[in-house]
Amino acid sequence: MKGSYVSTEFSMNVADEIRRLGKQVDLFWKKESELYLSLGLASHIRILEVGSGPGYYIKKLSEIFPEASFTSMEMDSSFVEFQRTLFSEGLVDKVKIIQGNLEGLPAEVTGYDLIIARLVIEHVQKPSEIVAELTHLLNENGKLVLIDNDFENHLRTFPRIEELNQLYKAYCGQRLEEGGHPYIGRQLPVLLRNSGLEDIHFDSICVHSLIEGSDLFLGAESSAVGLMLVKKGFLSKEIFDALSRKWSEMITHSDHLLMRELYYAVGTRGSGNRQLQTEEKTSSNFASNSPGETLPPLNSVEDWSAILWYYLENIEKPEVLDEINKQELVDCDSFDLGIDSLAVVDLSVWLEKNYSIKIEITELLQASTVIGYLSSSSEITSSNSNIDSDHGEI
Ligand SMILES: C[S@@+](CC[C@H](N)C(=O)[O-])C[C@H]1O[C@@H](n2cnc3c(N)ncnc32)[C@H](O)[C@@H]1O
Repeated sequence: MKGSYVSTEFSMNVADEIRRLGKQVDLFWKKESELYLSLGLASHIRILEVGSGPGYYIKKLSEIFPEASFTSMEMDSSFVEFQRTLFSEGLVDKVKIIQGNLEGLPAEVTGYDLIIARLVIEHVQKPSEIVAELTHLLNENGKLVLIDNDFENHLRTFPRIEELNQLYKAYCGQRLEEGGHPYIGRQLPVLLRNSGLEDIHFDSICVHSLIEGSDLFLGAESSAVGLMLVKKGFLSKEIFDALSRKWSEMITHSDHLLMRELYYAVGTRGSGNRQLQTEEKTSSNFASNSPGETLPPLNSVEDWSAILWYYLENIEKPEVLDEINKQELVDCDSFDLGIDSLAVVDLSVWLEKNYSIKIEITELLQASTVIGYLSSSSEITSSNSNIDSDHGEI
């Protein structure tokens, strides 16, 4: 199944893409190596990297885990060829290379103490299925590490370059169209939780040019990514030109800086008894009324007190009624009634469903009294749309 990473779509030149991926490993390695060293892993472990690219990451891992054995799984033949050369010096006996798609792993690929998917899950079509597959390949107490981008929090510079927002918007547009997940960074711990992993950790891996050096940052970027977006029609030439100029000005500024984040999540496979989890669905009760209850009618603006009282008592906020009485209700604003930005949406859906009244959320939250706002809003709605609700004329 095709995902959103094909080396020739990221660059016009595979050698340039291999170089970029290598620098991207170097850029984050200091922090990422600390992550692996903190996991408390034994020395003779079996490590699988899926979507291993040119193999630079495994080379780095072999330096901090010299006794480990590795499986490198990669689908791109140019990268696999590059890996064979890279590993030929000193790592031939330690790394088993498998060329293939991780959406159909061979049966012998199993029994790992550490599995890593770095900048891969964002490119596969069905992340949850892949994460579930990878979880099954772990030994008991084995760890799965996912590292990905979230393109809403990507590269930042000083001086600021506004066009970077358009570049990443275009980038995300293309990846989404191809079936990728450019905002998946935030979802990584949930993917691990849903596949039954335990003891989940999550954090960002943030690097800064003042610490890492600008050269490392610049090496990890490539104008080829932007050019491919122009070529495919996702980014205009004008934006690309403006971006290139501002990028060059930024670099020459004496206080220039670059900052970038990746996100990681780590989970551990327990004893195997744990059921797969799915996110608990919290179903809001706003759309339904209490069983057997009859809604108060709305015949005149005065009826709003009864309706709001009914709503608070039966649907949303019974606790606030311990502190106010029906007479006081007319003087209350939304904060007095505990109607916050979430509750106001529930109220608006309930009013529309039951009374065909549309409210403006900001207006209700700002109104000096909720009843005053509802009364005037029902007049507006009825005069605009001639609503003749089931509950009587307004
Ligand atoms: C952005 S690169 C990251 C490479 C490497 N993990 C790194 O961090 O440098 C993504 C890699 O995942 C590989 N990939 C994407 N989808 C894959 C799949 N379904 N099966 C195997 N490899 C895949 C791509 O070919 C590419 O080498």
